[in-house]
Amino acid sequence: MSSPVAELHMHIEGSLEPELIFALAERNSVQLPYTDLDDLRSRYEFTDLQSFLDLYFANMQVLRTAQDFADLTRAYFARASAGGVAHVEFFFNPQAHVNRGVPLHEVLDGIMDAVGTSEREFGLSSAAIAAILRDRPVHEAEEVFSEIIRLQTPIVGLGLDSAEVGNPPSLFEDVFARARSEGLHVVAHAGEEGPPEYIWQALDLLGAERIDHGVRALEDPALVARLVDEEVPLTVCPLSNVRLCVVDSLSEHPLRTMLEAGLLVTVNSDDPAYFGGYVDDNFAQLRDQLGLTDAERETLARNSITASFASDARKAQLL
Ligand code: ADE
Ligand code: ZN
Repeated sequence: MSSPVAELHMHIEGSLEPELIFALAERNSVQLPYTDLDDLRSRYEFTDLQSFLDLYFANMQVLRTAQDFADLTRAYFARASAGGVAHVEFFFNPQAHVNRGVPLHEVLDGIMDAVGTSEREFGLSSAAIAAILRDRPVHEAEEVFSEIIRLQTPIVGLGLDSAEVGNPPSLFEDVFARARSEGLHVVAHAGEEGPPEYIWQALDLLGAERIDHGVRALEDPALVARLVDEEVPLTVCPLSNVRLCVVDSLSEHPLRTMLEAGLLVTVNSDDPAYFGGYVDDNFAQLRDQLGLTDAERETLARNSITASFASDARKAQLL
């Protein structure tokens, strides 16, 4: 048996599998623009982040009630746990639901219901990170964050995602400062498609404790030195990087270069229903196509536990 892994970078809406899309469309009487599963699956060809985000947001329309969000979250927990994930910190995008008329409490109630029972049901500890859509107005982020806090939602952190280029972390300084003052952890997507400068901003302006993706850090040696020195975790998503054309192929993925540079790298699935697999699939394909060794896998597994926001007691159980 391989060591347990923590998954630190996945979007719960990105675990919406085609079969569940059709089942929820039926349950909620939503008319889908696809004739059948094959028609839907034929659209899973992406040229960049935006081409994926268009489908990701379109498919969310089937998510309407707390039950839908709970079912989605539990389906991911079941699959992740079967693949060796023992702890997960996952993103959800409140604005993506509120903006299409779904009450925030339906989203939070469903997700938090599943989080509350994950250890008992799946042996998986879990925590949710509210992620701000960086391509939406700043005031919208502030409003939805205020509402999450007003409702005393037990999230573990605040994140920043969606279309990166042209939407720098600097725009969101205030809302991240508020999150820190509320005692929340803060993380940010940076250096996926965007430049190393966005990683500097995420660290210096947002106080990000982890960088999601961060593969473009390698273009800036001073930044790599800082990330190594401060042991800032990078939550890398290899299959996602291939499917979104951030890298040409898995065999050319810079994961090993990052490990050799001394970076605290972890392996994650990002949007497993869209990118061809869950964390265990990422590891299996890295082994087959990048020649990832058992020792490297062990390092990555340990990194994921170390980089998590789990309690010291939980970390000790998993390390
Ligand atoms: N939202 C879902 N997946 C994402 C990704 N890979 N990058 C940015 N935002 C996202
Ligand atoms: Zn992501």
